[in-house]
Amino acid sequence: MFKIPFIDLPPMRGASGRIRLPGSKSISNRVLLLAGLAEGTTVVHDLLQSDDTEVMLDALRQLGCGVEADGARWRITGLGGQLAIHEATLFLGNAGTAMRPLTAALAVLAALQGGRFELSGVARMHERPIGDLVDALRPLGCTVDDLGHPGYPPLLLRGTDGGRLNVEKPIRVRGDVSSQFLTALLLALPLAARQAKVVIEVDGELISKPYVEITLNLLAQFGVDVQRDGFERFTIPAGSRFATPGRIHVEGDASSASYFIALGAIAAHGGAPVHIEGVGTTSIQGDIRFVDAAKAMGAQVRSGPNWIDVHRGAWPLRAITLDCNHIPDAAMTLAVMALYADGPSRLTNIASWRVKETDRIAAMAAELRKVGATVTEGADFIEVVPPKAWHDASIRTYDDHRMAMCLSLAAFNPLSIEPGHAIVRIEDPACVGKTFPDYFESLFDLASAHPDDIPVIAVDGPSASGKGTLAGSIAEHLGYHLLDSGALYRAAALAATMDGIPLDDEPAVARVAARLDLRFEGDRIFLRGKDVSEALRHEDAGTLASRVSSHPAVRKALHGLQLAFRRPPGLVADGRDMGTVVFPGATLKVFLTASAAMRADRRLKQLISKGINATIDSLRADLEARDARDKSRSAAPLKPAEDALLLDNSEMSIDESVELVLKWWSERRPIR
Ligand code: DC
Repeated sequence: MFKIPFIDLPPMRGASGRIRLPGSKSISNRVLLLAGLAEGTTVVHDLLQSDDTEVMLDALRQLGCGVEADGARWRITGLGGQLAIHEATLFLGNAGTAMRPLTAALAVLAALQGGRFELSGVARMHERPIGDLVDALRPLGCTVDDLGHPGYPPLLLRGTDGGRLNVEKPIRVRGDVSSQFLTALLLALPLAARQAKVVIEVDGELISKPYVEITLNLLAQFGVDVQRDGFERFTIPAGSRFATPGRIHVEGDASSASYFIALGAIAAHGGAPVHIEGVGTTSIQGDIRFVDAAKAMGAQVRSGPNWIDVHRGAWPLRAITLDCNHIPDAAMTLAVMALYADGPSRLTNIASWRVKETDRIAAMAAELRKVGATVTEGADFIEVVPPKAWHDASIRTYDDHRMAMCLSLAAFNPLSIEPGHAIVRIEDPACVGKTFPDYFESLFDLASAHPDDIPVIAVDGPSASGKGTLAGSIAEHLGYHLLDSGALYRAAALAATMDGIPLDDEPAVARVAARLDLRFEGDRIFLRGKDVSEALRHEDAGTLASRVSSHPAVRKALHGLQLAFRRPPGLVADGRDMGTVVFPGATLKVFLTASAAMRADRRLKQLISKGINATIDSLRADLEARDARDKSRSAAPLKPAEDALLLDNSEMSIDESVELVLKWWSERRPIR
C-alpha cells in the first residue's frame, strides 16, 4: 500500500489481464460479527484484510471472542450469545459496518445481561447518523446515551443483568436513510428471540435493499431463518440462536469489482479482456448488478459463477440515466465512466451518498469538475457531462477509499473521444486501505501507457555513491517502480556461472542474458524460480557483474529487459548508464557523486555491518581503480548525461539527498 502524500497517474491508454479481488467488506464484517456472537468456532476463508475489518477484529478481541489468524484463514470463536466482558471502550474508526451492528448487538446484550460499552470512531464517524437505530433500540428497552451530538456517535450502551426487552410489539425502524440500521437490528435481535418471536417493521421506503439480502443470506447460514413480507416486515422466529456453519467463504467484493469492470469497458480494447476473479453470476452481493449498468453503457461482459470478463464494447460509452438506489456504492463508478460517454449521464436516487465516508455527491462533483467535466448536483442526484478538454488535476479523496479508486479511472483520458493528456494526482492514496489495500498495485498491473508518458527518474553514478539507497527511497516516496539495473548484470553473471560458461565468452554470456528468467517480488529476486536475493548482493556477484557488463553484446541483451520496467505509474532507474543509454529521454536525471574517501568509508561501514573485514585504504584504492576502469571502458563508460543534475552527497545525509531530489522532481512536474 502507498503510504505517501499523493500518487501521480500518467495518462494511460489500455488495460488487460487478471485481477483477483479482495474479499467483500459487507460480507466480511457481517460474518465476523455473526461468528463472534455464535457458539463455537467459525473458520473464515478469504476474509477481506483492510482497515474496516481490522476494526471489527479488534472489537471482537476486546469483547473476549477468540480471534486467530491461521495462514490465510481466520478462526473466530464466538460468545454463544453470552457476554464474556461487560465493560469495554471500542474505537471503530470510520467503519459503518462495524459501528451500526455492534451498537445494536451490544445494546441488546447490555440490556439483557448487564454491561457498559462505549463506542466511538474518527471525527467523520461522529458526523454519520445513527439516530434512527437508537430510536428503534430505546423503545425496545435498551439504554443508549448520546455522548456527543444526539443521533450521532459516540454512544454509551448500558444495562443491568436480568433486564427484559419489550419484544411483544413490532420494533419500528426507518429504512430511508441507511439500510444498515435494519441490518444492525436483524443481526442483533436473534439474541432477544430465544423465548418469543421478534418482529421488525420498516418505516419509509427501504433503500439499498440488496445489502439487506446479504444480511438475510448470512443469517440463514448462521442458523437464523428470518421470514419477510416484502421489505416492510421481518420476523425472527422464537427460539432462534446463532449456530456456526463451521466454515464460511467470503466472496470477492462486488463494489471493488466495479473499478475493474469499468476499466475493461473503457480500456480493454486490444483483444485481451480484463479478467476478474472472486465474484460472478452466483454472487449474493447487490453491487453485482453494476454489471447491468456497465453493459447499458457499452461494456461487453462474459461471466461465470466466480469470474467476470470485460471488454470494451460501445465506444464512446453510452450515456445513461439510471435510478441507482440498488447499487449505491458501485454507482460512484458510473459517475466516472460518464466521463467517457457520448452525452450527459444522470444518476438518481442516491441521497445515501451524502451520509457515507464523506458527502459523496459533493465530493464527486468537485473532483470530476477538476478534470474538466461539467457537473450538476442535487439533493439526491448527480449529472455528469464529459470534458471537452481534460485538465491535470490533484484529486482530493476525503478519506474515502471509493473517491480514490473511482477517480483513478480518469487517468485513461487519452482514450476519450476528446482525447486528453492529463495527469491525475490522487491525494492520500492509502485511503484505499479501507477495503482494497492493493488497489493501485492491481491497477498498474493491468494498465498500460505509452512509454513516453511514463516518467522516469534516472539515478546514475559511480560505485558506492549511494545510488541504490537514494533510488529506492525516491521510488517509495513516489509509489514508482524501481529498476536496480546492477542486479540484472549480477543475475546474468550468476546465470552464466551456473551454466559453466566462461565470463569472457561474450556471445555465450549474451545468450544467457537474453533469456534471463528473472522475477521480482517486492524486494526479492528469483532467478529460474530460485530466490537469489542474498547471492546477488554478495561482493563476488558484483565483481563477476563488472566483468560481464563490459561486453557490449551483454549490454544489448539486457536492454529490452530494462525498458520493460517502464510501467505506470513511473520508474526510478538506478545504474551507471540509465540517463545516458537506457533512458536518454528520462524526465529527471541525477548523477550522484561523492568523494572516493567518503564512498570508501560508507562501503567499509556496510561491510562491517555484514561481518566482513576490510581496510579503508584498500577499499579506497579499489574504488579509484574501478572509477578509472568504468570511465575509460568503451561500452557505456561512466559519465554524467549532459542534462543530468549533479548531486555531490559527500556531506549530505541520505534524507537530505532524497529531499533535494524530490524537490527537483516537483519542479519538473508542476501540477495544480
Ligand atoms: O551497481 P552494482 O554494484 O549492482 O553493479 C554491478 C556491476 O554491474 C558493476 O560493475 C557495474 C555494472 N553495471 C553496469 O555496467 N551498468 C548498469 N546499468 C548497472 C551496473
